[in-house]
Amino acid sequence: MMSKVTTSYLLKMKQEKKKITALTAYDYPFAGMVDSSGIDIILVGDSLGMVVQGRETTLPVTMDEMIYHTSMVVRGTSRAMVVGDMPFMSYQSSLEQALNNAGRFMKEAGASAVKLEGGAAVSDMIHAMTSAGIPVQAHIGLTPQSVHQMGGFRVQRDEERLMADAIKVQEAGAFSVVLEGIPSSIASKITQRLHIPTIGIGAGAECDGQILVLHDMLGINNRTLPKFVKKYADINEIAINGLKQYVDDVKNGTFPSPEYEYK
Ligand code: KIV
Repeated sequence: MMSKVTTSYLLKMKQEKKKITALTAYDYPFAGMVDSSGIDIILVGDSLGMVVQGRETTLPVTMDEMIYHTSMVVRGTSRAMVVGDMPFMSYQSSLEQALNNAGRFMKEAGASAVKLEGGAAVSDMIHAMTSAGIPVQAHIGLTPQSVHQMGGFRVQRDEERLMADAIKVQEAGAFSVVLEGIPSSIASKITQRLHIPTIGIGAGAECDGQILVLHDMLGINNRTLPKFVKKYADINEIAINGLKQYVDDVKNGTFPSPEYEYK
C-alpha cells in the first residue's frame, strides 16, 4: 500500500513547488475512484448539501450527515488525506462545541483532518483544535456558509482583509488554507506570503494546489456551473443514455436475453 498523504508531505510539496491536487467525494465508490486517480486530498465537503441533497445552500447540512458521508469516504480511500468539512453552526457557538465536533470527525468517521470556514474570526477555534492534535484546513474568501451575509455567492476582493485572514489562520496553526472565489492576483500574493499550502477554487493558477467539487467537474448533476469549473466528463449524459437504453430494452423484450437467464 502506498503511504498516506500527511500534513508534512503537503508542506514539502509546497516547498518543492509540486502542485497539490484535491477533489471532493461523498461516498465509498467515488472515494475509491478519486483515490485511484492519485489525488492528494479528498475533502468531504458540506457542498454535499447542494450536489447530493439537492439543497439551495450548504446551511442545512448536519454534523450527523457529515459523519455518515465521511466514514464512507474513509472506507473507500487508501492514499489520499481525507478532510471532513465542519458544517454551519458546528463550530461557531463555543470552543467546546468546535472541539467536540472536530473530535467526532476523527474518532467516529476516521478523518485525518477537518476544514472550517472563516479567517480571523475562527482563529481561536483553529488554535484549540490544533492544540488538541487535530489538523485543520482553513477556508477564506467566498465562504458558502456566509452566503446570506455576503449577499450571494460573490467573488471577494478586499485584499487587505484576505491577507490578514490568511496570516491569522496560519498563525493559529492551520496546515493549509482553501482560497475560494478571489482574484488570482490576490491569491498569488497570499500564496507567496504564507509558508502553508494554499488550495485554490476559483482563485487562479498561482495557488499551491487546486480543488473542485467532484459532481461539477464530472458533470454528474445537470446544474449551471460557476465560471471556474472545467467539466472533465459528462456523467449525467452517459448515465441517462444507459438508463433510457434499459427502459427501451425492457419495454421491447430484448432484456433479459437468454445469456442473462438461469438455465
Ligand atoms: O464544501 C466544499 O466542497 C468546499 C470546497 C468547495 C472547497 O468547501
